Amino acid sequence: QKKTYTEQYRPQVHFSPKAHWINDPNGMVYFNHTYHLFFQYYPKDIVWGPMHWGHAVSKDLVHWKELPIALYPDSLGYIFSGSAVVDSNNTSGFGKKGKIPMVAVFTHHDPKGEKAGTEIFQNQSIAYSLDNGNTWTKYNGNPVLKNPGIRDFRDPKVMWYAPEKKWVMTLATQDHISFYSASDLKSWKKESEFGIKAGAHGGVWECPDLFPLKLNGKTYWILVVNLNPGGPNGGSATQYFVGSFDGNKFTPVDSNTRWLDYGPDEYAGITWSNTGSRKIFLGWMSNWQYANQVPTQVWRNAMTIPRELELQQSKGKVLLASKPVEELKNSYTKTIALKQVQVDKTIDLSSKISSFKSQYVLKLRLKQLQDYSIKLSNKNGEELLIGYDAGKDQYFIDRTKAGKTDFQKDFAGRFTAPRLTTAKNSNITIVVDKTSVELFADGGLTTMTVVYFPSGDLSNLAVTASRKLNIDNFIITGLSSIWK
Ligand code: FRU
Repeated sequence: QKKTYTEQYRPQVHFSPKAHWINDPNGMVYFNHTYHLFFQYYPKDIVWGPMHWGHAVSKDLVHWKELPIALYPDSLGYIFSGSAVVDSNNTSGFGKKGKIPMVAVFTHHDPKGEKAGTEIFQNQSIAYSLDNGNTWTKYNGNPVLKNPGIRDFRDPKVMWYAPEKKWVMTLATQDHISFYSASDLKSWKKESEFGIKAGAHGGVWECPDLFPLKLNGKTYWILVVNLNPGGPNGGSATQYFVGSFDGNKFTPVDSNTRWLDYGPDEYAGITWSNTGSRKIFLGWMSNWQYANQVPTQVWRNAMTIPRELELQQSKGKVLLASKPVEELKNSYTKTIALKQVQVDKTIDLSSKISSFKSQYVLKLRLKQLQDYSIKLSNKNGEELLIGYDAGKDQYFIDRTKAGKTDFQKDFAGRFTAPRLTTAKNSNITIVVDKTSVELFADGGLTTMTVVYFPSGDLSNLAVTASRKLNIDNFIITGLSSIWK
């Protein structure tokens, strides 16, 4: 009998539930030195079903402990995605005896309404906790924001807008964003709309986020909008806009689509609240195209590595870059640092990773970027390719031959992403964890997440290049399991 967390395909450094189905991260909030992660959860099966909020906590964003379910479906419906805030000033009045309330703001999705063919089956509701998120009380005045007649009306992300001492809710409303505000988290008033003519519209807008970030002393507001389908490599994906926000209205610097992650397997990503100027992002590591079919058996789906967001100026644009959080070093084991690795057609580095059991970080530094391909493979002939194509100035990840693909027609594939800098030199970080790779290229300007399901660990590593290639630094660091 297999032990939990050691099953085939089980991520070892990414959060996944002990059992059953998960999708979006929800209610991410930092409170009393603890990072809370709630998530869309169906505790009875490994397919999507009546949604609950599962709950996990971490002190360092890396090691997670799963706790009992936080929110159950009720007479108003399933508990869909949303956010959580720390109501330090007790604006909600939920605080008692000096205890600061944590308030969750979520979508109540009424399946009966949906069946009846009405448009009005998604409304926003709240719940609070006075014991660090362990137990929750739903507000008896729910829903606090009623649906005005829009089919898709969901995924509230709430933040405190200090200049006007009010809460701002960013809500996905079908093909655009609607902003609302409230002084008490209960009486919401519509402020404005954004997006009907901006960005990508290949699918429904879902799971938005709004937050400020600084670049060279200047504040920009980032509006994250998840989209399903219509992503750059098919299915669901995360786009974002750069602009300004005045408490009422978001104004973008341009209406172009920017992608936070180009791979097929980062979705519904948003950031933690109450982390000060630091912005930490987490996505669901799957895609609605096949999330219900991936070949795991005890649980289904996982989260990405938490990522620190920062703004960078590149190619005349302000762009959002992501990097694995620094705390990932809490699971580092051994590091092997190679210098001046010469690749003459191909070099086999399998012996360097043999003790790392398909859980490691690769960091490559090249003074002169050119074509190359990194191959992770096993003795069953399965292989995953990660590389750069100079002719097209694109990164790529190819999972066509990386293991099981037959569970869904869109799963096999080679995915590409543009390089977003013209710098000659290049740095790349790749996080490998059994059944996923996350590529952070050029300081995180281009990010790609891809999952795969090999019949055995891809424990061989080789680099190939069409012309002689010099890798100035090649650093491999093992990662220990977070479940020990
Ligand atoms: C995004 C999403 C949300 C919704 C939730 C339901 O993946 O469709 O819009 O709230 O999942 O589980």
